[in-house]
Amino acid sequence: MSTVQESAEPIRHRKYVGSGQKYDLQAASQFGLLTALGLREEHTVLDLGCGSLCVGRLLIPYLAPGHYFGIDPEEWLVEAALAQEVGRDLVTLKCPTFSNEGGFRLTVFGRRFDYILAHSIFSHTSRRQMATAFREAREALDPHGIFVCTFNKGDEDYTGEEWVYPGGVFFRLETVQQVAYAAGLACVEIPWTHHGKQTWVALTHPAHLDRLPALHDPMKTVLLEKRLRDVTQTLETLERQPLVRLSKRTQRLLRRFGLRRRSR
Ligand SMILES: C[S@@+](CC[C@H](N)C(=O)[O-])C[C@H]1O[C@@H](n2cnc3c(N)ncnc32)[C@H](O)[C@@H]1O
Repeated sequence: MSTVQESAEPIRHRKYVGSGQKYDLQAASQFGLLTALGLREEHTVLDLGCGSLCVGRLLIPYLAPGHYFGIDPEEWLVEAALAQEVGRDLVTLKCPTFSNEGGFRLTVFGRRFDYILAHSIFSHTSRRQMATAFREAREALDPHGIFVCTFNKGDEDYTGEEWVYPGGVFFRLETVQQVAYAAGLACVEIPWTHHGKQTWVALTHPAHLDRLPALHDPMKTVLLEKRLRDVTQTLETLERQPLVRLSKRTQRLLRRFGLRRRSR
């Protein structure tokens, strides 16, 4: 079976963002991640480096009017995608907001977001640019919000000062976590598929790190919770055994008469 993607050379705005033939898959993967993290239509999303609206073309119809925001210095990319991927009717209905700001100023819209997404951005930035973006994200992220982004995980860090494009750069996970920490954000790796082999991380305000366990494989979380319940039940059953009760009573008595030190 032949599809548009297989038979045709990707159109220029799709090719520019690198996903080319995987534009549809990359979009589905990003959208799936955000919804797995709890994204609902009433939330607000900031798409840093939104490019040709790879995931924007799914988020714009999904979110309530005025809830999608995109930043990309390449104005032509956004314009091409609005015309060819989204359509003017949907733009009128959903009122997405864009900025062509190129200094990683996530605070440019003067508001906070429930979710911030930066897909395939830190695979091109310098460490300094990443630090600026993370500091800005700290300000632009709702205190309960989640910032998800990708980078190329490597054994060494890119030490240049320039944005590298269309090539890519690599960072160690520890480095990305250090940069996040310095910006006042907690950062954990998340096991979500990436069709270009980048690594996903999620950043939150440190006080709301508890939002992150839900990010892990939901099945794994369910299994772990069940295991915890089983172990707790086994412990309770053991504690009810006559021999264990006798042993605990003896320990208490010994402690009372100072014959046994309190166990730590
Ligand atoms: C690899 S593409 C990823 C695009 C999009 N996130 C996606 O998933 O398809 C990198 C994007 O970053 C944009 N970009 C370049 N410099 C930027 C900057 N300073 N701030 C934000 N985006 C930038 C590029 O124009 C391009 O659209």
